[in-house]
Amino acid sequence: MKTEEKTMADKIRVLLTEEEVDTKINEIAAKISEDYAGKQIHLICILKGGVFFTCELAKRLTVPVSMDFMSVSSYGAGTESSGVVKIIKDLDEPLEGKDVLIVEDIIDSGRTLSYLIEVLKQRKPNSVHLCTLLDKPERRVKKQVHVDYTCFTIPDEFVVGYGLDYDQKYRNLPYIGVVELG
Ligand code: IMP
Ligand code: MG
Repeated sequence: MKTEEKTMADKIRVLLTEEEVDTKINEIAAKISEDYAGKQIHLICILKGGVFFTCELAKRLTVPVSMDFMSVSSYGAGTESSGVVKIIKDLDEPLEGKDVLIVEDIIDSGRTLSYLIEVLKQRKPNSVHLCTLLDKPERRVKKQVHVDYTCFTIPDEFVVGYGLDYDQKYRNLPYIGVVELG
């Protein structure tokens, strides 16, 4: 879908509408609820980008859920991963024995997640799975990152909205779009 919307100063080309995202989250939530039947899911939201998706997903899960939040940085001010992952805010609770589901906004190079998964596995959870709103497989550097649940696979374009930012802007857009610069 290629409509255009004017938001603030930049032009945003809509890639995925709010309705498309909503429908897909319903489907993924149903699948996850089925896969985790009889268990409790410990959702780990990766701040800040994962926050909108985590909330929408959590509301639709029909199994018991607990939540924790973590903030990491793998990017500088630009749009390229630096390869250096830093924990800015760690989890509040231990993971031992828990069925962990990491919730991300987007998997790009995979550097952030390949590092995070290793760190979290050392905390002895019962299981660790990964759920992402968006996947850009063309950009993957860390091929070993296995994504269990993907809402949308997208081409190599820099996207914003639904939690994703460009220089901290546009996280609040209810749809996913591409900033048309210049
Ligand atoms: P990775 O380590 O390269 O996989 O980077 C993952 C992180 O980079 C995501 O959690 C986002 O915060 C950010 N990122 C990657 N691609 C985009 C994009 O297209 N728009 C906004 N943020 C992005
Ligand atoms: Mg992120």
